[in-house]
Amino acid sequence: MTSIQTAILTPDTDGLRIAADVLRRGGLVAFPTETVYGLGADARDDAAVASIYAAKGRPSFNPLIVHVRDIDAVSHYCEMTKQAQKLASAFWPGPLTLVLPLKEDVGISKLVTAGLKTLAVRIPDHSVGQGLLAAFEGPIAAPSANPSGRISPTTAAHVVAGLSGKIDAIVDGGACGVGVESTIVDCTQSVPTILRAGGIPAEALAACVGETLVEPVDPAVPMSPGQLASHYAPKGTVRLNARYAEAHETWLGFGDVDAPFNLSPSADLTEAAAKLFEILHQLDAIGAAHIAVSPIPNHGLGRAINDRLKRAAAPRP
Ligand code: TXA
Ligand code: MG
Repeated sequence: MTSIQTAILTPDTDGLRIAADVLRRGGLVAFPTETVYGLGADARDDAAVASIYAAKGRPSFNPLIVHVRDIDAVSHYCEMTKQAQKLASAFWPGPLTLVLPLKEDVGISKLVTAGLKTLAVRIPDHSVGQGLLAAFEGPIAAPSANPSGRISPTTAAHVVAGLSGKIDAIVDGGACGVGVESTIVDCTQSVPTILRAGGIPAEALAACVGETLVEPVDPAVPMSPGQLASHYAPKGTVRLNARYAEAHETWLGFGDVDAPFNLSPSADLTEAAAKLFEILHQLDAIGAAHIAVSPIPNHGLGRAINDRLKRAAAPRP
């Protein structure tokens, strides 16, 4: 792949207008959402979507999430089930992705769905993401803006480090607030199923639909086609549930421990989610070869954090 000039755009009207023009020409634009930075392309343009896969080095069987402005746009592309309507009105805009039956002939590229008859959609809760959707006036397919398998980006600098020279532009909207990807819920079955833990905790989803959602038992078994076991990987090895660090390890702590890096000294899971990828990027930057991570409670946002850490610790292909 030949290297191209990656423009850094400001998150104002001018920057968003340029970004929308790039998308219209079939280019790739990274932009902030409340979860992580997405790598966007026009979801109706086969060639543009293909270039997302190429830039990320992403296996082509792995479908993408489509970002839209509002529920009207969701209903244009998908059948809204009853459960989906409840979840949508409670959590959109926000860090929730719904997998819904895709309507026929609505123009979404088959490369977006990898040939599935369902579509993963979400309405992001971020002024810059929303501004870009408004300026572009169309559906934006966007996976996280990182090389496939590596740590997700929560700042424009992370995107530059991973994808500079491979994408047309990055809209710099600062650090992402939530810090872990959206929760993915499959609403095509009678009981909704959580395909990926994320920014909306399972407890909040259950309270909304009035029943416990089905959850994957073993994160090593891929539920969502893209749930590869090894993912979110820093360059160093990762050891989980570490009560201390061995001499050769760098300790990534949680709570009141004497560690050089700490996801949240006050054991706040929201803070830990927001800092997770940033700290993993920092550990890469200092060349940490072995990382030992403190135990993280497995409730609320802790589930999304543990899901990402388990994949970061999984054997690499
Ligand atoms: O927060 C997020 O969700 C971020 C921001 C940019 O929106 N996006 C993101 O996308 O994390 P990505 O591509 O890294 O993850 C998308 C996941 C993959 O695991 C993929 O397999 C799953 O969504 N997915 C996409 N379409 C699907 C479908 N029709 N059925 C089941 N899973 C699907
Ligand atoms: Mg990703």
